[in-house]
Amino acid sequence: MESISIGLLGLGTVGAGVVKIIENHQDKLSHQIGCPVKVKKALVQDLEKDRGLEIEDGILTLNPEDVLADPEIDIVVEVMGGIEATKEHLLEALKNKKHVVTANKDLMAVHGPELLKAASANECDLFYEASVAGGIPILRSLVDGLASDRITKMMGIVNGTTNFILTKMTKEGRTFDDVLKEAQDLGFAEADPTADVGGLDAARKMAIMSTLGFSMNVDLSDVKVKGITDVTAEDIEYAGQFGYTMKLIGYAHRDGEKVEVSVEPALLPNEHPLSSVNDEYNAVYVYGEAVGETMFYGPGAGSLPTATAVVSDMVCTMKNMRLGVTGKSAVNPQFEKKLKEREE
Ligand code: NDP
Ligand code: HSE
Repeated sequence: MESISIGLLGLGTVGAGVVKIIENHQDKLSHQIGCPVKVKKALVQDLEKDRGLEIEDGILTLNPEDVLADPEIDIVVEVMGGIEATKEHLLEALKNKKHVVTANKDLMAVHGPELLKAASANECDLFYEASVAGGIPILRSLVDGLASDRITKMMGIVNGTTNFILTKMTKEGRTFDDVLKEAQDLGFAEADPTADVGGLDAARKMAIMSTLGFSMNVDLSDVKVKGITDVTAEDIEYAGQFGYTMKLIGYAHRDGEKVEVSVEPALLPNEHPLSSVNDEYNAVYVYGEAVGETMFYGPGAGSLPTATAVVSDMVCTMKNMRLGVTGKSAVNPQFEKKLKEREE
C-alpha cells in the first residue's frame, strides 16, 4: 500500500484531535504501518467554521457520500455523534468494505450488535475504544489484557463532564450551571449535555463495559440510572463537613449469571482513591477472580486524549489490513457471543 486514506465523519472536538495526531505523529504512524496515513475527506455541517486547523482545499464536504462511497477511502472514522442517521452511514461504509472506527457510545450502546454483525459480514474491522473513558484504553484491557480472567466487578467514574462539575463545585464553590458551561466550552460535554448530567452517558459506557467485561448480554435498559441534576451545593458542603466527597459512580457486579449495573451519585470517604480523581479525569476499578484489584486512570474526555484512542484504533485496523486479518476486531468476540445468545 502506498498510503492509507481516512474519511472523517465529523471534524469537531475529537475530529480535530485526530487530524492533529495524524499530522504530529505521522513518523511513528508510518513506521508502524509501513506507509503514510492521510485524511482524504471530512464531513461537516459548516464549511466556513474556524476549526483552528490548516485544512487543504477540497477536504471538507457537506455530502456524506464523498466519504462513504469514495473507493480510495480505507477507513471511516466516525466522530460526529448521533444515533439513527449515523448508524445508517456506518452500515453503508461497511457495505462499501470500509473499516470503521467510532467514538460514539450512544450508538454502540444501542446498535453495537447490529453494527458488529455488519462488520463481520463484510470482513471489516469496527473498533470503538474511545467510546468509553476517553484516553484510557479500558475496552482493550477488558477484552485482551484480562482475557484470561473472570471479571466480577467494575466500579468507577466514567463521565468527565459530571466529574468536572462536581470537582469545581466541591473545591471552588462554583455553581452547577457555571461549571457546566465551562465543560461545554472545553469540549467535554455532549452536544446535548442532559445525557452527561442525567447519567445516561455514563450508563451507556457501563453497558458497553459490562457487555465486554462480563461476556454477557447487558443492555442499556438493564442499567439503573440517576444523574447529578438533584445534587446541590449544600449536599456537597454537608458531605465535606463529615469527610465525604460526592462522585457520580458507575457500578457493575456479576454474581454467576446475575448482573447488576447502576450509575448514581455516591458519597465516598475522602481517603477513597476515587475521591481524588478530579476534573475531567476518569478512573475505573476492575476486579478479576485471579488478578484481584486493578485500577485504570486517565483523561476521560477532551480533544487529544480521546483522539489518542481513536487513532490507536486506526493503527490496529491498519495493522490488520497489512496482515490480511481484518474482520476479527479485538473487541468483537464478546458482542458476537451476545448476538448468538440473542438469536438463540
Ligand atoms: P463536536 O460537536 O465537537 O463535533 C461534531 C462534528 O460532527 C462537527 O464537526 C460537526 O460539524 C459534525 N456533524 C455533526 N452532525 C453532523 C451532520 N448531521 N452532518 C455533518 N456533520 C455533522 O463533537 P465531539 O467531537 O465532542 O464528539 C464527537 C463524538 O465523539 C460523539 O459521539 C461523542 O459522544 C464522542 N466523544 C466525545 C468526547 C469528547 O471529549 N468530546 C470523548 C469521547 C467520545 P460542524 O463542525 O460543521 O458543526
Ligand atoms: N461527554 C463525555 C464525558 C465525553 O464528559 O465523559 C467523553 O465520553
